[in-house]
Amino acid sequence: MQFEAKAERKMQTFKFPEGFLWGGAISSHQTEGKNTNNDWWAFEHSQKREQRLLKEGKDPAEYYSGQACDFYNRYDEDFGLAQQLNHNAIRFGVEWARIEPFEGEFDEQVIEHYKKMLEAAKARNLKIFLTLHHYTIPAWFAKKGGFAKKQNVDDFLRYTTVVAQRLGKYVDFWLTINEPNVYSIFSYILGSYPPNHRSLPEARRVAHNIIRAHNRASVELKSLTGKPVSMAFQLSDIQPKSIFSRPIMGVINYFINDYFLNGCVGHCDFIGVNYYFHHHVGWLGERKMSKSEHEKSDLDWGIHPEGLERVLMRLHQKYHKPMYITENGIADAADAKREKFIKNHLLHTYHAIERGADVRGYLYWALIDNFEWLYGFGPRFGLVEIDYQDGLKRRVRDSAMKFAEICKTNSLSL
Ligand code: BGC
Repeated sequence: MQFEAKAERKMQTFKFPEGFLWGGAISSHQTEGKNTNNDWWAFEHSQKREQRLLKEGKDPAEYYSGQACDFYNRYDEDFGLAQQLNHNAIRFGVEWARIEPFEGEFDEQVIEHYKKMLEAAKARNLKIFLTLHHYTIPAWFAKKGGFAKKQNVDDFLRYTTVVAQRLGKYVDFWLTINEPNVYSIFSYILGSYPPNHRSLPEARRVAHNIIRAHNRASVELKSLTGKPVSMAFQLSDIQPKSIFSRPIMGVINYFINDYFLNGCVGHCDFIGVNYYFHHHVGWLGERKMSKSEHEKSDLDWGIHPEGLERVLMRLHQKYHKPMYITENGIADAADAKREKFIKNHLLHTYHAIERGADVRGYLYWALIDNFEWLYGFGPRFGLVEIDYQDGLKRRVRDSAMKFAEICKTNSLSL
């Protein structure tokens, strides 16, 4: 009895603002399966990629997205799970390459299919964040130079307009482009994502055109649907190792965090925040992932929830806009760290709210395990496990149940 009373006294409850949105996020290519018409599919099956994997001693068969989670057909089962887990929101995407498989030709059946998907999410009382571009582009668009060509921005606009006209009534929040910084860096500077180019001038052009694409799409989406628009920005917490690293930290912050925000924030009704990384920078700008003292995920990414609070406060002070955390998650196959990960990130989100930041929702990445780009299906980010060996069976992880409690009570008890 005495012990219970003590424990009770120690328990603290942090109540989130009324109407806070809770849920999970996923993307089209990573979950739908058989996205055969986009540039990633082509990349996964390219000889160059297969040879590289073989050289690294890896089996290419494990790095094809293939049927992924078959979310394209099993969406209702997954929305049902989200509902059971007390989510009131979800983030997913539509695949441009399916909707417009050939330039200027829109696939009616696919649009109807997505309509059903969106209706199914609505029927489960989920507010919908819809992503229009999550790293992948149609093969025909890639062939004509993708976002590296200014005139191609019109293609993105045409696709956006069709989606807004045909599917817009179901959407609560638009996310035009996912992580423009990651997209331009990985695809055009590091060369690890398609089209595997390494060219600074090209990356610069892509960045400019993505900003143009977002800003124009935002006007279109607002006028056609009236719903709030943002990008999902990947924002990192960048800290100096010493006072000597402060100047270089400013430069890195500008390129990693601020570049796209500065270009697009005027056309964002809210800021979509994807938070994964915390970096220490040395005085020469050498960037280190979280220092060894931080706990790590299965991908060896340091866990640093305090950084999320700093990111949110920095955004709040600079832009004064509502914010939704559109991604935050951990690869943790054993499900040993996820509960703590979520709770600690939420605690720091709560602190940011207490300090004045207008944070209105938290979408954990990911609702279900999925195809993790260059890493294949190994990393397990899901609240729900996918059994790839057994008919893609869905199994709710324990941490998902703990998160469900938070969603239900709109509060975090620690
Ligand atoms: C991306 C997701 C990815 C996740 C985990 C985010 O940056 O938007 O597509 O799966 O990180 O790596």
